[in-house]
Amino acid sequence: MSSFPVTRLRRFRRTPALRELVRETRLAPADLVYPLFACPGEGVEELLPGLPGIGRRSVDLLCEEADAVHRLGVPAVLLFGIPEEKDEVGSGAYDSDGIVQRALRAVSERVPGLVLLTDVCLCEYTSHGHCGLVRDGEVENDLTLELLARTAVSHAEAGAHGVCPSDMMDGRVGAIRGALDGEGFEQVPLLAYSAKFASAFYGPFREVAESVPAFGDRRSYQLDPANLREALRECELDVEEGADAIMVKPALPYLDVIRAVRERFTLPVAAYSVSGEYAMVKSAAAAGWLDERRAALESLTAIKRAGADVIVTYFAKELAEWL
Ligand code: PBG
Repeated sequence: MSSFPVTRLRRFRRTPALRELVRETRLAPADLVYPLFACPGEGVEELLPGLPGIGRRSVDLLCEEADAVHRLGVPAVLLFGIPEEKDEVGSGAYDSDGIVQRALRAVSERVPGLVLLTDVCLCEYTSHGHCGLVRDGEVENDLTLELLARTAVSHAEAGAHGVCPSDMMDGRVGAIRGALDGEGFEQVPLLAYSAKFASAFYGPFREVAESVPAFGDRRSYQLDPANLREALRECELDVEEGADAIMVKPALPYLDVIRAVRERFTLPVAAYSVSGEYAMVKSAAAAGWLDERRAALESLTAIKRAGADVIVTYFAKELAEWL
């Protein structure tokens, strides 16, 4: 091994072409998933200040956005829904005519080649804003499983190409896999939000999705941000229960978790760069403190370098335009 002056690492940094040649990590639109929020109505586009450029769209406008992002080379979207009404048991989540189910039918007709993933959770649909059924002030695990399974099946029936449970109930992956298989959807993959942390970075999302818990917080079901080993156990259990891919969420504050999951498992690994990560870059850029494009590219490159195969990001559309 030679050292300076024989070795000079700056040689390969001298020009853009040389740097490009030895670049170890490359982001491409093909790596990205774009989250979309469906809401009732027609011609509705409600942009929200916490998530610049992202908003709730009625199904007609959501189809246009899905088409635009697909044309830019982004292969997949992740659908969320804001229902007309919420109730104690989150009925809107598993209604065959629910908002996500309607969006699925419309987008699959309008944008055939686009991969349609759905977020499977009750929090946007419950009046109390929790991800499961509430009994005596506690989020009930086992009773919630059946509702999550029904939600996933109804998404598959409406044309989802993959379902992504984000609720963090114990046993949901097995329950959902069993229900899908029982209904003839054994070919629909399950991408589990396996290592989902109880994070402060979900703030802007909860505004868009109107899913702020009415009481308490999500710490009795989402992971403690301090725990890496427990995150790996969550992944292990999800793999045993039949997950086809596993996700880490948020992404940027959890690069060590992404790396550890990548090293430990052979499944595809996804990372969700959440609303707060996006809002931080957007707001600092708006204040003139950061170069938005460079900060976004750097952050998402770091997530890929840490080991994510797939990145869910609100920057997907802009990034596909830049790349
Ligand atoms: C639903 C869900 C949440 C997010 C994705 N799915 C919110 C939460 O758990 O409170 C957050 C996404 C984001 O912040 O971008 N459970």
